[in-house]
Amino acid sequence: MFEVLPGFRDFFPEDCLQRNFIFSHWKSWARRFDFLEYDIPTLEPLELFTRKSGEEIVSQLFHFVDQGGREVSLRPELTPSLARMVGSRINSLKRPVKWFNIAENFRYERQQKGRLRSHYQFNADIFGEPGPQADAEIISLVISVLRDFGFRPADIKLRLSDRTLWSIFLESFGFEQERALEVLAVIDKMERMSREDLLEKLKPYFNEAGEDFLASVELLRSQRDLAGLRRAMESLAPTAGLKARVRERLGNWEQLLSTLESQGVGDYLQLDLGIVRGLAYYTGFVFEVFQINDKGQPEGRALAGGGRYDHLVGLLGYPDVPAVGFGMGDVVLGDALQEKGLMPPLIDAPDIFCVTGGEAERLLAMEDAMALRQNGFRVSYPLKGTGFGKQFKLAGQSGSRVALVYGSEEREKGTVKVRDLQSGGEREIPRSHLLKHLPDIIAEGIPTESGD
Ligand code: HAM
Repeated sequence: MFEVLPGFRDFFPEDCLQRNFIFSHWKSWARRFDFLEYDIPTLEPLELFTRKSGEEIVSQLFHFVDQGGREVSLRPELTPSLARMVGSRINSLKRPVKWFNIAENFRYERQQKGRLRSHYQFNADIFGEPGPQADAEIISLVISVLRDFGFRPADIKLRLSDRTLWSIFLESFGFEQERALEVLAVIDKMERMSREDLLEKLKPYFNEAGEDFLASVELLRSQRDLAGLRRAMESLAPTAGLKARVRERLGNWEQLLSTLESQGVGDYLQLDLGIVRGLAYYTGFVFEVFQINDKGQPEGRALAGGGRYDHLVGLLGYPDVPAVGFGMGDVVLGDALQEKGLMPPLIDAPDIFCVTGGEAERLLAMEDAMALRQNGFRVSYPLKGTGFGKQFKLAGQSGSRVALVYGSEEREKGTVKVRDLQSGGEREIPRSHLLKHLPDIIAEGIPTESGD
């Protein structure tokens, strides 16, 4: 007996139905925002991820040496591969590049709620546009998708943060880039750590002065509006140069927020510098979307996360191209839809079920079934002969709207009886008129003779 590997899923037809429901929403919204679809290989050179993803993802890679001696890895995310694709054609692509993809990713994580070893992600990214309008486009796509699933502003929040402000902040404490990234990684884990552990982690950078630093970090993390953020940042930036950079950056914030307000998605936003993002390549605005509990606090794993990464294409050896995007996972989203009762009942039924008498009638039904299928109808019938009673039972169980009944009387007249399986109403029509009448019958049904 074999079981699926831990963290992997079999998708039975009813699971595929739910997955397709999610995928079709994703795709429909990507299209409405005018994103084009692309795809990448499942297997990539290991180095693409060891060099370009964050430390956390690197420790979770499914990697091995292939028969040709190459070190390869299943993709844990799409972004480095996408950056390679865009970089390789950067001079010929029409900008801005707006691309989306839905694909399976693999991460060797400890299996728990919202965390599996294989998950699907909806990614949408924009390349070639450095200004906040591109960030706004990405953020409003994320919110539009989730709003359309039925989440209200009280259910979810997009927590919006900024790596640029964090680097100005860390610079004001004298950190250059590499050490700033290390400290940022500690700040990223703050929500899940005790104060003692945090101070211990910060010791190599501050000796005994970690408390002061932590107080400033907490001041920044507690701001929930732009005015507060401005006051906090200006009080923390020690030099005129840094203060000017803060002012310029807050101008970008104003532009971003006013665009999102005018797009009508402002109610879903929460300014929250507590979000840093684990991946190493982010450079500017970053965000994560969480479910909100009764106490107004974010809960569980993020439904989606993303942000700006202006140097990743350049890091792969191509000219630098500004970029911003997000990934939304099917696992956390699927759980949230179930918990909130937002997963609708999904029906997967044929349009037509054929019920036949003897062999001669069965062959006529086969002929009609194929003609109907060629015209786009979904048609089913039993694959072995049984009595009328059993066939009607199967027709009812199939969820089909109508049954086509082929009896010997109808065969002699060249007709077929159409039965509405919901009302029980019947109508006899010539076989040659099936294609003409069935669309209306399926849409409107057949009243019973008594009109019930
Ligand atoms: P990420 O935050 O690592 O970002 O993943 C995005 C989303 O995928 C998460 O919010 C979560 O819902 C889902 N996810 C990730 N790992 C798992 C897992 N092991 N099990 C279940 N769900 C998971 C990225 O991957 C970035 N590449 C997104 C991006 C695109 N940034 C810019 N463009």
